[in-house]
Amino acid sequence: MLSMKDNERLTRVGPGTPMGAMLRELWTPAVRSASLKAGGAPQLFRLLGEDLVAFRGEDGRVGILQKACPHRRTSLALARNEGNGLRCIFHGWKFDGSGRALDCPTEPTEKRKAFAARVPIVHYPAEEGGGLVWVYMGRRTPPKFYNFEAHFPPAEFLIRRAIVHGNWLQGFEGQLDSAHLNFLHSSSVPRGPNTAGVLVTHDSAPKFEFVDKPYGFREAALRGMPDGSTYARIREVVLPYYSFIPGNHGDPRLVVIVVPIDDEWSAHWYYYLSPFGPVPDYYKEAAYAGTDPDDDNFAKDRGNEANAWHQDIDAMKAGHFSGILKNFVYEDFIVEESMGPIMDRSREFLGTSDAVIVRARRMLLKALEEHKQGTLPFGVDQDLDYREVRALAIRFPKGTNWKSIDVRNPPDFDK
Ligand code: FES
Ligand SMILES: [Fe+2]
Repeated sequence: MLSMKDNERLTRVGPGTPMGAMLRELWTPAVRSASLKAGGAPQLFRLLGEDLVAFRGEDGRVGILQKACPHRRTSLALARNEGNGLRCIFHGWKFDGSGRALDCPTEPTEKRKAFAARVPIVHYPAEEGGGLVWVYMGRRTPPKFYNFEAHFPPAEFLIRRAIVHGNWLQGFEGQLDSAHLNFLHSSSVPRGPNTAGVLVTHDSAPKFEFVDKPYGFREAALRGMPDGSTYARIREVVLPYYSFIPGNHGDPRLVVIVVPIDDEWSAHWYYYLSPFGPVPDYYKEAAYAGTDPDDDNFAKDRGNEANAWHQDIDAMKAGHFSGILKNFVYEDFIVEESMGPIMDRSREFLGTSDAVIVRARRMLLKALEEHKQGTLPFGVDQDLDYREVRALAIRFPKGTNWKSIDVRNPPDFDK
């Protein structure tokens, strides 16, 4: 449970809020790189409560500008992408990605240049990596760009976004909640002899242990198996919103990033990647199964509260646990939306299995406190190598300490 005050501090992300100010210190995932064509249509997006447009100039570089034209606030999402700038369709003013007004043709010729130099427009630096355009919305020199392993070969990836009507923190907390696998996803996770679908059913009350990291923490959900071995789901949490979902060594992976669009909406980025070679077809097929084909909003057909998100009562009676049939990630989105747009954490009642979200909240609140004193959050000013970050699901014999396992190169306990 949190006080109302802390709930507000953690969830509000607009300009001038404590969380909004802290999140603006980071490189933030904004749009898919592939969605911007050189000289093509600008893309409208909203991030941390600000309406922005992204465009790719003919030189291939991405520019990020405020959505509203600084003249009379016409949307620059309608602008002409000309050369390496956007020209507003209302009066033809043109801006480049570094926020310079290049042309204001409604001004007298002799005054045009001096006038253009005074036109204010919000613009943000952009970087590309891992199939995404990232934006820095802070006021300092941007921190070093993340080097997550998804940005580098041989990792290949498939990246998709779902837009969910729920505050970013409840989306992120859903990702940190390992116990729900046994319930919400019990009819939807893959079932093979060595998959989570079978292993987690042996113990619905996992024990949680943690190792602090400069970027967040590593967490193990430890489940006792009937033969005395332990099934560990070792997750990596990179604050503020990256959750590296465990998979067996050698198998493809999922990284979920829950980015605040504004206080009530969040972008859930699903990174399907394989650190071990090309992403296998079966994995891509599973990602697309039952979803909308739109990679920028792949769960838009999930329904809403008025139609109970198309929950299938007959399927539930026949044994499906959640009655949400399209794809297991819809189950996550729907439980989040059902909490209301900003979940009221002053009225929850937490149990033992909520240890991970309690920890994440505590760390986020501490980071807010430190940020107020001028400290940058989550080690972004340290020289961290994010390629080290990898989650792992592993079963090991009695007497093994999970903390001693090298997650990038684990021993094969079956040999
Ligand atoms: S509103 Fe954009 S140029 Fe006038
Ligand atoms: Fe889930």
